[in-house]
Amino acid sequence: VIRQELGSLHGIPLFKSFIEGWPQVKAFQARPDDLLISTYPKSGTTWLSEIMDMIYHDGDVEKCRRDAIYNRVPFLEMKVSKGPSGVEQLENTPSPRLVKTHLPVQLLPTSFWEKDCKIIYMARNPKDVVISYYYFHHMAKIHPDPGTKAEFLENFMAGKVAYGSWYDHVRGWWEKKQEKMLYLFYEDMKKDPRREVQKILHFLGKELAEGTVERILHHTSFQEMKKNPAANYETMLPTMMDHSVSPFLRKGISGDWKNHFTVAQNERFNQHYQEHMAGSDLHFQMEV
Ligand code: A3P
Repeated sequence: VIRQELGSLHGIPLFKSFIEGWPQVKAFQARPDDLLISTYPKSGTTWLSEIMDMIYHDGDVEKCRRDAIYNRVPFLEMKVSKGPSGVEQLENTPSPRLVKTHLPVQLLPTSFWEKDCKIIYMARNPKDVVISYYYFHHMAKIHPDPGTKAEFLENFMAGKVAYGSWYDHVRGWWEKKQEKMLYLFYEDMKKDPRREVQKILHFLGKELAEGTVERILHHTSFQEMKKNPAANYETMLPTMMDHSVSPFLRKGISGDWKNHFTVAQNERFNQHYQEHMAGSDLHFQMEV
C-alpha cells in the first residue's frame, strides 16, 4: 500500500480508493438488527467495537478471539485494491451484525435510517484525537504524509484530513441524536467503564450477570487489548500498518495532548474550539 492523496466525496476529504467504492456503500442495504458503531477516527472505535462484540457474545472471550477486530466488525466504507471491500465483508456476515463507520452523518447510507437501526456514536476530545491521528498517519500507510506536528495540527483544524472537520462530525451526529442513538464519550469510558457498559446494556435492553460484565471490562481494558492480537491490529500486513513506528494501541489515555501542544498552539486551539463549538450544548472534557 502506498500513501494515498485525499479526494473529495461530497466535500469531505477521503481516500481515493474509498471514493471509488462509494456507489456500493451508498446502495448498502442495512438490516433492521444491524448495530452501527460510528466515530470520527481515533475516538475509541476499536475499544467500543471490542466491547460490543463481547456484549454480543455474552462475555465469551474465546468467541471474541475468533478473528481480528476488523473482520468481526467490518468497516463499511473500506475499500483498498486487494481483498474484499467493507460492503462485501458485511454481505457475508450473519445477523446480527456490528458495522463500523467513520462517515459524517450526512453521508450515512439512507438504509440505516429507513431500517431504523440502532446507532452508537463515540466522541473524543479533539486535542487527543489530533495527536492520536498524527501518530496513526505515520503507522497506517494509507494516509497522506502528515508533515510536521505543527502542520498536521493546522490541517486538522482546517478539516483538511480524512473525514474532514472533527467539529462538523461530532456536531452533525449530536444534532441527529434520537431515541435509537446512544452518544458516548471516550473520556467517560476512561473514567467509569462499568457505568458506560451499563449504559450500553440499557440501550440494548440487555441484562448480563455481574461476572460477565466484569469479564467484559477486563478483556477490553487497554492492557488486555494491547496484548490481544485479535484486538491490536498486529495481524494487519506490515505494508498497511507499521507498529514499529507507533503501535495501534498507543497510549490509551486522556490528556496526552499536554505532552505535545505548545502553550501557543493550545491557546490557538482553544480559540478555534470556542468559535467552532459556539451555540452547541455539546461539551468535551480535555482530560480525565
Ligand atoms: P491513542 O493513540 O491516544 O493511544 P480508534 O480505534 O478510533 O482508531 O482509536 C484509537 C485510540 O483509542 C488510540 O488512542 C488507542 O490507544 C485508544 N484505545 C484503544 N483501545 C483502548 C482501550 N481499551 N482503552 C483506552 N484506549 C483505547
